[in-house]
Amino acid sequence: MFQRSDRDSTLITNRPPPFVAGTLLRMIIMKREPLIVTHLTAKNWRNFRRIDVDLRERVFLVGPNASGKSNFLDIFRFLRDIAKSDGGGLQKAIKDRGGVSNLRSLAARKDPEISTEISLGEACEPPRWRYALAVRQGAVGKRPPFVSYERVWRDDELILDRPNDADKADPQRLTQTYLEQIGSNETFREIPLFLQNTTYLHLVPQLLRHADQIQGRIIEDDPFGQAFLERIARTTRKSQKSRLRIIQDALKIAVPQLEQLEFVRDEDTGMPHLQAIYSHWRPNAGWQREDQFSDGTLRLIGLLWSLLEGESMLLLEEPEQSLNSAIVGQLAPMIHRVQKRRHRQVLISTHSDALLSEGIDGREVLMLTPSKEGTEVKVAADIDEIRVLLESGFTAGEAILPRSNPPFPEQLSLVD
Ligand SMILES: Nc1ncnc2c1ncn2[C@@H]1O[C@H](COP(=O)(O)OP(=O)(O)O)[C@@H](O)[C@H]1O
Ligand SMILES: [Mg+2]
Repeated sequence: MFQRSDRDSTLITNRPPPFVAGTLLRMIIMKREPLIVTHLTAKNWRNFRRIDVDLRERVFLVGPNASGKSNFLDIFRFLRDIAKSDGGGLQKAIKDRGGVSNLRSLAARKDPEISTEISLGEACEPPRWRYALAVRQGAVGKRPPFVSYERVWRDDELILDRPNDADKADPQRLTQTYLEQIGSNETFREIPLFLQNTTYLHLVPQLLRHADQIQGRIIEDDPFGQAFLERIARTTRKSQKSRLRIIQDALKIAVPQLEQLEFVRDEDTGMPHLQAIYSHWRPNAGWQREDQFSDGTLRLIGLLWSLLEGESMLLLEEPEQSLNSAIVGQLAPMIHRVQKRRHRQVLISTHSDALLSEGIDGREVLMLTPSKEGTEVKVAADIDEIRVLLESGFTAGEAILPRSNPPFPEQLSLVD
């Protein structure tokens, strides 16, 4: 009754064999968007009594000095320090921060517990994972801090709930999290891996410049980017080239004369170097090396490179510090250009007006407002006055900045 035509059979033979189809399907399934932290809550963490905010792929933390921007970023560094594969762990992460008494918010009054919870998932999707941790100081004598609860949810199903029976039988176990124990976290390994790969960047150009002298004395986790050139050197030639091309392209927004950016090794010393050619020079002018770059250019390159390196969260501490304001104003668009190529979540602390340029969505900005009860954190788009301005066509920068600056200048002029 059903006759297969020649054409049909051609079609059938042209289909990929089942194993190829299976591989393709797996590749499509595996090519998931990178994880980002989509939501953060915290309680009694340093100068915050409570934090409860949604996070986007790009987040700007805006607030006056001492409002807690660094403390906010430190939540992710704390979790990273716990999850670290070498020399990490809860006890060290707390000790490095001066103990629970130093971490616990002074506004916490009698509540002895510090806690945090992160949701991990793809942007704008329900979270794939949630991880919650609460710690307290051991009650008697010099008892170490302990986990008062640790919980993990996968797709909303609770898969870890401590203290569990084993913890009750041996309370010593509560001095460690499961995050730091490879033998205990195999069912949620994606979480510690994500946290371990979180990068904190506070680039100081002077240190980059004198990389030759400080070689081999790079401090833990390289927060100042001292090993930046070495990191470039360790990358395969192919990624080196493609990343530098993306950076070169993004840099043109701020440094239009930049013609070409290259990585080289000094033939005599073997030291790694970056070099650039600018178009306004006379023809055949030599290459310029990183020790002749402006602070701003160097810092920008380091920062953009970090966006292309790794998949997990990138924490950028006040990148405006050594950039001139013309470049600061271009930073957000440059980050946007690079993020189009590689989606790495980036949290940027800033007290710079200039950084909140055009093209920023009110949902990407977190406003930190200090008060007696600790600093409040709000998504800018959720603040009524700002939302009204945004809806009537103001850019996020225009709507947000008048609120993010303390009113001192006007007060001073009243005194005059
Ligand atoms: N446990 C704590 N309780 C309350 N405030 C704290 C605690 N730890 C630090 N702080 C306060 O946090 C402020 C510093 O925050 P920080 O994150 O460095 O600000 P920013 O980076 O915005 O300049 C200081 O005023 C400090 O007193
Ligand atoms: Mg700070």
